[in-house]
Amino acid sequence: MYNYYHRFVFNRTVIRLKKEEQQFQKLNTLKTIAETLNQCNDLQEMLQYVLKELLDVTGIETGWIFLIDEKGKYTLSADYMLPPGLTWKHKQPMCEGGCWCLNQYNDGRLERAANIIECKRIEDAIEYKWGETNGITHHATVPLRAGTEKFGLLNIASPNKTHFSEEELALLEAVAFQIGTAIKRIKLAENEQSMALIAERNRLARDLHDSVNQLLFSLVLTVRGTKEMTSDPQVLEMLSYMQDLSQEALSEMKALIWQLRPQGLENGVASALMNYGKVLGLNLKVDVKGVIDLPNTIEECLWRIGQEALNNCKKHADTRDATITISVKESSVTMEIEDTGCGFHYEEGQQIPSLGLSSMKERAEMLNGLFELSSVVSKGTKIKIIIPL
Ligand SMILES: Nc1ncnc2c1ncn2[C@@H]1O[C@H](COP(=O)(O)OP(=O)(O)OP(=O)(O)O)[C@@H](O)[C@H]1O
Ligand SMILES: [Mg+2]
Repeated sequence: MYNYYHRFVFNRTVIRLKKEEQQFQKLNTLKTIAETLNQCNDLQEMLQYVLKELLDVTGIETGWIFLIDEKGKYTLSADYMLPPGLTWKHKQPMCEGGCWCLNQYNDGRLERAANIIECKRIEDAIEYKWGETNGITHHATVPLRAGTEKFGLLNIASPNKTHFSEEELALLEAVAFQIGTAIKRIKLAENEQSMALIAERNRLARDLHDSVNQLLFSLVLTVRGTKEMTSDPQVLEMLSYMQDLSQEALSEMKALIWQLRPQGLENGVASALMNYGKVLGLNLKVDVKGVIDLPNTIEECLWRIGQEALNNCKKHADTRDATITISVKESSVTMEIEDTGCGFHYEEGQQIPSLGLSSMKERAEMLNGLFELSSVVSKGTKIKIIIPL
């Protein structure tokens, strides 16, 4: 009897200690997750690590994270132990098509951890025979949030599991909140870096403009002046050579400063060009057809080209009247800058005469676009840019 009681107490103590140890391990993993989230600055690496740790601590088999942008476009950003049916063709089932959890997220219906959602991707994998689904049919899903901002979804699933306990969901939610906060921190840091970069570029542009540019300009003027002081053909030739070189250096410096200059695109390219036209004292009309919602690289390209075209109009066209038309279609955006000024002699197909115009062409071609220049003396000049979207 004594022995039996003794063994009973011993067993109970062992079970209690085991439970305590498990609890301790869980807490320890959560601590490591929190530490990683706090330190890591590489988003992809962080998500992959945290997902694996979360699955380890919960004993759940598979999981994946979608990051979702403001327009509802998603990217698979981490995944662990997906069944073959979902990794088919380099994870194609996870990278295209919609699903119910994304719909709920985008409709704003998914605020907290949702227990079980039937998985549309798994259903498709079965229907189209993409491969084994390892008994997975449903998943739990939780939005990644920081305050009111949302960044994506965390999904987890196990074979034949159609219900997640309150405890599992609470843990999922706690980790999801931490991930959301970490994503926000990384985004803020990136933002800060790019602000610092812009400030640095502005400073460099200003310094180059005020120092090197002015010195080169003085050099050009001095050489020009010195040429007046001699009639020696050899000296004149040397001076002309110096004049050409310094003129070239000045042009290159101008181009460099041009590329470093601030963006000024906070309110979109149409408004930026409108303001620039005002700065130059032009009588500019900007006409927009379609909705301007362009990728940053294209906006920046249109902005730079538009700026140079307006500069030329101001410097060379001998008129204040100019029009810019931007029309956005499904597959391309077209920008035309037209003035009714003095024009210049240019035949289609002819080599582009100089730096300003050829940089416009290069900028458009860098984005696989087209650049067309037409100018007729006494009628005016038109520049047309077409960039594929
Ligand atoms: N809108 C325009 N009206 C009249 N002439 C123009 C116009 N745009 C360009 N040109 C002529 O084409 C030439 C080449 O222009 P481009 O922009 O390449 O060089 P730039 O304006 O002279 O110098 P930079 O742009 O390097 O300051 C100009 O010098 C000018 O003669
Ligand atoms: Mg120019």
